[in-house]
Amino acid sequence: MSADIAADVRSGLLSVPKALPPHLFYDDEGSALYERITELPEYYLTRAEREILEAHATEIVALAADGLDGALTIVELGAGSASKTEVLLRALVARQGHGSYVPIDVSPAAIDHARRRLGAVLPEVRVTPLITTHEEALRTLKRHAGPGSLVLFIGSSVGNFEDHEASAILRGVGDALGPGTCLLLGTDLRKSPDVLVRAYDDDAGVTAAFNKNLLRRINRELGGHFDLERFRHVARWNEAASRIEMHLESTVMQEVAIDRLLLCPRFEAGETIHTESSIKYDLPRVRALLGIAGFRLDHTFHDQARRFALHLARAL
Ligand code: AVI
Repeated sequence: MSADIAADVRSGLLSVPKALPPHLFYDDEGSALYERITELPEYYLTRAEREILEAHATEIVALAADGLDGALTIVELGAGSASKTEVLLRALVARQGHGSYVPIDVSPAAIDHARRRLGAVLPEVRVTPLITTHEEALRTLKRHAGPGSLVLFIGSSVGNFEDHEASAILRGVGDALGPGTCLLLGTDLRKSPDVLVRAYDDDAGVTAAFNKNLLRRINRELGGHFDLERFRHVARWNEAASRIEMHLESTVMQEVAIDRLLLCPRFEAGETIHTESSIKYDLPRVRALLGIAGFRLDHTFHDQARRFALHLARAL
């Protein structure tokens, strides 16, 4: 694992401005902190998405299964603990009596947890996990699922990718599973910047700990000497790009040795490392993204407060 992160950390800290890819957040500690974020009062995204799933799971499954000869299979990109997915799997079992679920995630711990929990509460669902990256999974997915699939890319994970990266992932889904494949895409929506900044800079400091865990991870895995007291968590709204950005800001001028990389990057006071972007969408941007990726948008579902949306689309 350390070899994997070394190349990303080296190129990210040598680039101008400095940036690290958000997938580095998710070691065991980072994944546990993310689970805590999803329960924070300020972080409305998970609750809003669950509300939509609870209200519309039966309809979503019926629309995705419409016109299919055989059974519908549910595939999930970045499944994590799959806690929200359970709502859809229950609707799948209610419709077909049984079901197949293919969770894809890089974290064996999260997948194992999901498989055990689902085995206990939904034994009618056959779970075939793929513990790998999206890119790798798309190469082998055809063996486990076909055009009779509903692919979930929920949790607003799409927002952590630039538009061109997101459309490449979605195009990969259509190419792997063929025309007619259904996609359920979760997107957070544009809203007051105050609400957004609070969702990414909570009072309890959990998001700050999540962001700083990246430096802790570099210390642990690459022999880094980051002093966490000398970096500050920053969440800011970028209106032009319609995204929340998370940064780690150096509070002083400093040089930080990273032994295993033989690197000692210098930070000016106030200089930041950009660690994550989280795009907040409007409907035209979602429609454009899906169109470029080869999907037709069929339905959009909102929570009552219209903070979040789930989009059902079909590969053309
Ligand atoms: C995983 N992803 C959708 C989260 C988001 O909202 O962009 C990650 C996160 N970063 C800070 N809080 C949550």
